[in-house]
Amino acid sequence: MTPSNTENAPSKPDEPAASKAPAAAASAPKPAAERPYSPGLEGVLAAETAIGYVDGANGRLLYRGYPIGQLVEKGTYGQVAELLWTGEWRRTARLVPAELPEPVVCALHELPEHTHPMDALRTAVSVWGAWRRPHWPPTVDQVRELTSFAPSALAAFHRIRNGQDPVKPNQKLSLAGGFLQQLNGKDPDPAAARALDAYFVVGAEHGLNASTFTCRVIISTRSDLASAICGAIGALKGPLHGGAPAEVVSQLHEIGSPEKADKWVREAIARGDRIMGFGHRVYRAYDPRAAALRKVAEGMADMADWLDTAVKVEDVVLRIFGELKPDRVIKTNVEYYAAAVLQGVGLPPDLFPPTFALARMAGWGAHAIEQASADKLIRPDARYVGPPETDVPSFGH
Ligand code: CMC
Repeated sequence: MTPSNTENAPSKPDEPAASKAPAAAASAPKPAAERPYSPGLEGVLAAETAIGYVDGANGRLLYRGYPIGQLVEKGTYGQVAELLWTGEWRRTARLVPAELPEPVVCALHELPEHTHPMDALRTAVSVWGAWRRPHWPPTVDQVRELTSFAPSALAAFHRIRNGQDPVKPNQKLSLAGGFLQQLNGKDPDPAAARALDAYFVVGAEHGLNASTFTCRVIISTRSDLASAICGAIGALKGPLHGGAPAEVVSQLHEIGSPEKADKWVREAIARGDRIMGFGHRVYRAYDPRAAALRKVAEGMADMADWLDTAVKVEDVVLRIFGELKPDRVIKTNVEYYAAAVLQGVGLPPDLFPPTFALARMAGWGAHAIEQASADKLIRPDARYVGPPETDVPSFGH
């Protein structure tokens, strides 16, 4: 064992505990047993960032100082991505869908039929990395290329799994519009393209969430952008992070009608189940992204009935949480109304999580660049709670 492996381990009873030189002991951090431990790193500051501000107490979200509600109203995803990467708000900033490199198309054709789209997107990013070789440190050009590539890759996978050939992107369209066009093989309804663009703006960035943290950890080792984004996609895949909106759809389907919500929700909470689309690690107020997406969904005529049920069920859930968990403020989160917008633009539920990843590509990229400029390896510590040091038993040969 090396000294670093044993630093937290209790010494053997017959050994003096402090055998280190006095100078080294003075500069070392306190033993792990004496430092506070926060499960899930809750409340721990692990980075300084100038990219996004999640004000959980007041339900505010700012990208480089600009409120999310205003960005949705006044901006496009292309402008917002550029803002996150460079700090500049430019009228002419634009992102267009990229054509796919041949090795990516070949790899997508090789995937088993039952592949989850999130795994397909992660694979596509990995192949992109092998083809493009984006060396550390990540740059705005690398991040822009990857963000423009990802929607084309996901759309190509969706067509291939349905027995269709991928189509080339119409580069006159926005990234969101080009994604819909490549999925469906025809130019999208402009209102649907605008709604999806708004969803992309809302999903672009959210502080040090699990996937962004994963991305920063990987970049902190001076590994490359594609590896960091593959890790981030892996973290986002979990149902507690990016997998929620698809489950919101099945949850509402199961509930059936608002009159049945009270009984269904109480039984679910009593079983210890999570109600999808509610609760957040940081927000103790209504998630401002949910408010922005609810507005977008209200503008989608096809979603009126679904939305009517969703709003009534939301009221019931909030009332029951207020009653059963009065000490923990649990409000609606972004995923509840994301489910409405993503359904409204015609996406099947299993494309919801990877579509979230397409949107979050902008934030991951911005954090990758920021982490590389800090250039500090992220390496926290663990408190050792295993057995004390002891001799390995001999087999007596
Ligand atoms: N349904 C039922 N109980 C809940 C929920 C929920 N949605 N959210 C929190 N709680 C309860 C939980 O049971 C616990 O109660 P108790 O203290 O009595 O055991 C208490 O609230 C604290 O929960 P926690 O899991 O310790 O809190 P957290 O900060 O780790 O959880 C969360 C955050 C998002 C994982 C959780 O709220 C949850 O599971 N929500 C449902 C899944 C969901 O909608 N996820 C999308 C999150 S928003 C997307 C994003 O920003 O990435």
